[in-house]
Amino acid sequence: MKAKIKSAYLAPEGYQDQLVKELEGVTACHGRLILTDQQQIKPPFWTQNSWQNPILIPIQSISDAAKKLKALQRNWSLYSFQLHRRAQLIQEQLPHVSAKPLSFPASLPGSPMGSWTLLDRDTLLVASDCSSLFPNGEIQFAEDKKNPPNRAYLKLWEALTVARDYPRAGQFCIDVGASPGGWTWVLAKLGAEVCAIDRSPLDDRVTQMPGVHFQKRDAFSLSPDEFKESREKTDWLFSDLVCYPEKLYDWVRMWVESGACDNFICTLKFQGDGDYRMAQKFADISHSRVIHLFHNKHELTWVRLKSWEPSPVQS
Ligand SMILES: C[S@@+](CC[C@H](N)C(=O)[O-])C[C@H]1O[C@@H](n2cnc3c(N)ncnc32)[C@H](O)[C@@H]1O
Repeated sequence: MKAKIKSAYLAPEGYQDQLVKELEGVTACHGRLILTDQQQIKPPFWTQNSWQNPILIPIQSISDAAKKLKALQRNWSLYSFQLHRRAQLIQEQLPHVSAKPLSFPASLPGSPMGSWTLLDRDTLLVASDCSSLFPNGEIQFAEDKKNPPNRAYLKLWEALTVARDYPRAGQFCIDVGASPGGWTWVLAKLGAEVCAIDRSPLDDRVTQMPGVHFQKRDAFSLSPDEFKESREKTDWLFSDLVCYPEKLYDWVRMWVESGACDNFICTLKFQGDGDYRMAQKFADISHSRVIHLFHNKHELTWVRLKSWEPSPVQS
């Protein structure tokens, strides 16, 4: 008898241990897919795709499996941890799902994406209700290999895509920990005005972009009062600072409480095993979520949008 499976979570590559530590009632680990016999009271941070209420479906053959999946919905992505050839043959009989990389800025896909795996030769584990609209939570973008100074722009593209919002032309953004300028490049390309702050300089090409103003200084010396005279609001505050999450938390709390800025996207960088209680403190700030992006490594991303309800939204 298989234990009742109430939810399953796909860990980001290399972060299974972090995910297992967060989950209640783990019954099995299949590669990066962790099964539990409980609905989680708190959604975990270290997940790339969460499968809610997965069901077991007995199958008699490859075509029987494909038929049963197609009867449930159109779009399916396979997570394969064993029986790879059999699983692939089933997936090939399912409707084609576009793998075209997104061109930023892009809307999220309109149709839901289900996930499935082969638990054994004759049993599918299937979830229609998944947190990500992308196969196994992997958002791929049409990359710009020429203009940005590094690849950090990809995680900001992903954060803004998942947030379903981005800075508009003429909005004012602060980007702390901005060097060499991947995030500032994204914001300036969107037509925003960017105050970029770092102790190290920006790449020259980014400094010269219209709307970019660079300040070489300690980001933590920046206070909301500084902009009071010159402008009514800061529309967005971005941080990719390499620093202790505790220090960042105190600093962003000051900004949130001042009411001087509407929207925040900050990476939370952890050392070693990390103290993920800090992640919960960020998640507890109203209108916030803490997520692990496909383009994040050993870091989480805190997103706070003024337009969000206090409850979490789907990625
Ligand atoms: C991961 S890099 C940022 C990459 C950047 N977001 C991009 O897209 O190119 C982190 C940056 O934080 C900066 N940094 C760390 N502590 C800082 C502080 N207290 N004040 C200003 N900059 C700081 C470092 O100099 C470094 O450039």
